[in-house]
Amino acid sequence: MRIVVTRPLPSGGLHLLNGHEIVQHEFSVGGPDEDQLIDIAQGADALITLLSDPVTERVLRACPGIKVVAQYAVGYDNIDLAAARASGVVVTNTPGVLTEATADMAFALLLAAARNVAPADRYVRAGEFSRWEADLLLGSDLSGGTIGIVGLGRIGAAVARRAIGFGMRVCYHNRSPANPSVEQKLGARLVSMNTLLETSDVVSLHCSLNASSRGLIGREALARMKPSAILVNTARGAVVDEEALVDALRSRAIRAAGLDVFEDEPSVHPGLCDLDNVVMAPHLGSATHATRLRMAEMCAEAVQAVLSGARHIPYRVV
Ligand code: GLV
Ligand code: GLV
Repeated sequence: MRIVVTRPLPSGGLHLLNGHEIVQHEFSVGGPDEDQLIDIAQGADALITLLSDPVTERVLRACPGIKVVAQYAVGYDNIDLAAARASGVVVTNTPGVLTEATADMAFALLLAAARNVAPADRYVRAGEFSRWEADLLLGSDLSGGTIGIVGLGRIGAAVARRAIGFGMRVCYHNRSPANPSVEQKLGARLVSMNTLLETSDVVSLHCSLNASSRGLIGREALARMKPSAILVNTARGAVVDEEALVDALRSRAIRAAGLDVFEDEPSVHPGLCDLDNVVMAPHLGSATHATRLRMAEMCAEAVQAVLSGARHIPYRVV
């Protein structure tokens, strides 16, 4: 069987598929667009995709041999699930393994934003550290503050656990209430989106991208936030209206932001790069050696299960 992988994955991660023909692609600039994806997926029985690959109805129709799309990510907003369902294509993802790594990244960005870590690093490198000063690069305390988690799923709960360790209170907003035992263990309060925005010192986004979360943090939401608040986004860029965020950061309507994801990735709104109160990373949430290897293994397990006709397909979404 022919397995097409849209980008090189950690070596060793796909060894389970060794009996098959594995074709790993590399693109000099960016990733495949729809046409390139159709081109490389010709004759494929299975496709292993990244979160930036547009797995549209057109792609699935143009590559009818595909039996499974194994997404090398937990989010799968790049895949047309309805089209996959309609054409009998199995879709899988990599839940669970990247929870702690992504929560760590959210906290790294939060701490960096709260304590000016990125400007401080630039300051030292520039040779500007000439004396200790009482008012140099002052930040804000996490302890005693409230974190508002938008989307209390696995990653949201892992961020909440860290926040409790830092002495914060936790509130959250979900489309539906979280599991009561999770809520109780975290002492997390379910509040309306407006209450979350108005009362949180930190707003951290952990929802998936869908029709109801797209643009959720726009002008109106940003205006509701405290001027001292920090926004952290390790979910999907399009949950935030980036233009509105640039304006809010520039006018100090909110204090700072930590962003791992962008509305039009890999493009970054040029306004963000001019601001000192935003710290950014190139979508590194799951980027640890162990996590990325395990994600590849999970894709391989799912592909192997489908291609061998197993009844149980692990990590199945569709
Ligand atoms: C990363 O953003 C993922 O969805 O795994
Ligand atoms: C992802 O793993 C989530 O449910 O937050």
